Amino acid sequence: MQNVETLTKYGENPKPSRLFLKAMSPNYPGQFPAARLRRTRRTRNLRSLVAETDLSAADFIYPVFVLDGRNREEPVPSMPGVVRQSIDRLLHTLGTAVELGVPGVALFPVVDADAKTPDGRNCADPEGLVQRTVRAIREKWPDLVIITDVALDPYTTHGQDGIIDEQGYVLNDETVAMLVRQALSHAEAGADMVAPSDMMDGRIGVIRSALEEAGHVHTLILSYAAKYASSFYGPFRDAVGSAANLAGADKSTYQMSPGMSDEALREVALDVAEGADIVMVKPALPYLDIVRRIRDSANVPVFAYQVSGEYAMLKAASAEGWIDERRCVLEALMSIKRAGASAILTYFALDAARWLSE
Ligand code: PBG
Repeated sequence: MQNVETLTKYGENPKPSRLFLKAMSPNYPGQFPAARLRRTRRTRNLRSLVAETDLSAADFIYPVFVLDGRNREEPVPSMPGVVRQSIDRLLHTLGTAVELGVPGVALFPVVDADAKTPDGRNCADPEGLVQRTVRAIREKWPDLVIITDVALDPYTTHGQDGIIDEQGYVLNDETVAMLVRQALSHAEAGADMVAPSDMMDGRIGVIRSALEEAGHVHTLILSYAAKYASSFYGPFRDAVGSAANLAGADKSTYQMSPGMSDEALREVALDVAEGADIVMVKPALPYLDIVRRIRDSANVPVFAYQVSGEYAMLKAASAEGWIDERRCVLEALMSIKRAGASAILTYFALDAARWLSE
């Protein structure tokens, strides 16, 4: 028992406790030294054989910002490395995604100010930016899973996800009626998944019925079931140009409060009952406990969205040289998978896919 002596000799309590001695005893089953957990960690190959979680390009969905026009590209200052692109450029970028084995893309439109209205009605225009983008991607990259955002914020003059009354309160049922038109136009254009991110009550059921009625029986609904009123969306709102329109207003009357957890399960249960195929948790890293709770209690796939603020933090700290970008990004993504996400929306999709293939 020389080990014990060395270990305790200089400690505050020179006398090892009985429990400690027992744990150190070779006769104590399942304990040191019979159980040396470091055996499986000794080499890279051993670690890979016992890995509980794996991360690959096939887990990623790439969120992109699309602009009108041709051959246009604008950087998003609060999201270094992320650009807004016109459709032609986007198709090129998505070629890289396909090449790297990234299975899906999530589309977010940057709508010109003069196309915005208080009720966001341009969201359902069959010739709208998103609808045209969906058709273009469908034609060029037929296997890529196309996910569209169902919410009014890119289309409203006030930047809210729905239609508001005189007090600025977002009206639920009026908004749902508009979201249904938006979702149908996306399905019509060829989207594989419509993703309501608006947090109105009852919208999944109404969208599901409308899709069925219109014959879109294969269109999936990816419901942002547990979407929190998060300040980590800041850079995204810069990217789609809704931050200025919001003018300091927030979304706490419809998005979930950050302290809520049981309520997330209730949101999920309702959305699944109404016909959601997949549920989303958003943001990801600050809400891993929610990902895990949903994964353990609901029998639907769970996706998680590593949002713009999570991206910006990792980018900023890496740019300062304070953290190693590649390692920290892959660790964050691995953690989101470990928590129970089957896929991750991440602005790092292409970089991470590349790093994982090296
Ligand atoms: C809006 C929407 C938001 C995001 C995706 N869809 C912002 C918001 O709710 O204000 C955020 C994504 C991100 O921050 O990366 N319907």
